[in-house]
Amino acid sequence: QGNASASAGKTKAASCAGCHGEDGNSTMPAFPKLAGQHQTYLVKQLQAFKSGARLAPMMAPLAAGLDEQTIQELASYYAGNKISTNPAPKLPANDDDDAPAKTPEQEKAELDALITKGSDLYRNGNISREVSACVACHGPYAEGNKPASFPSLHSQHADYLIKSLTDFKTGARSNNRENMMHMIATKMTDEDIKAVAYYISTM
Ligand code: HEM
Ligand code: HEM
Repeated sequence: QGNASASAGKTKAASCAGCHGEDGNSTMPAFPKLAGQHQTYLVKQLQAFKSGARLAPMMAPLAAGLDEQTIQELASYYAGNKISTNPAPKLPANDDDDAPAKTPEQEKAELDALITKGSDLYRNGNISREVSACVACHGPYAEGNKPASFPSLHSQHADYLIKSLTDFKTGARSNNRENMMHMIATKMTDEDIKAVAYYISTM
């Protein structure tokens, strides 16, 4: 039954491939990878795009046309695929023209510091600012928690993770269980968000 559902989903996923990639491994960083994500989480997001509970201008018109069975099939297809790992992260280009150019050594040191900070935040949270440790819900490998439907995060694009966390923080993404992610993200600085996103993208 699961396999029949996934193979029906594969056919229907053709209309998603332009943004999310053939198998759910999008290459463009603004479009989330869907491969390997928990089926129940994918179903919940598609239902939320459809109802308008999660606002996303690109997804809304597409989700509006999906019936319940198609949502289940698409979710089953993507959940059964394997997420691809990301290439080594790069710092975003410096948009301050007057800043002196960084040497490759400086770039590497800055990136390493950012990822170390992100790893610490992911595992330990931040006690003084009361940021919960991500590991508690999203797991030691950011594999999520299937029974609890906590999403898998590892190898997701850093840009998408930054956008999601920022949207939770501002409330633009308000559809999150018991406001859990909103409460966490409001305690995070933009630098925390960037650090943890970069770290997770390397997992
Ligand atoms: C997000 C599924 C087509 C652009 C998502 C998410 C799902 C999904 C499940 C949420 C991922 C998460 O929360 O981790 C699908 C399916 C499609 C489809 C099943 C085909 C029926 C498209 C297309 C585009 C697109 C064609 C581009 C025009 C996006 C964007 C987001 C997103 C930009 C992120 C929204 C945000 O920032 O909150 N999609 N998608 N999707 N999708 Fe799609
Ligand atoms: C969703 C990151 C801590 C529960 C998410 C998403 C991200 C994220 C990026 C969206 C995933 C996507 O769009 O594909 C983080 C980070 C954390 C953290 C960086 C630590 C700073 C936690 C904790 C909990 C939690 C401690 C549980 C108490 C959830 C749940 C969702 C979620 C339930 C799904 C929300 C929904 O239904 O849309 N998290 N998380 N997270 N997270 Fe976290």
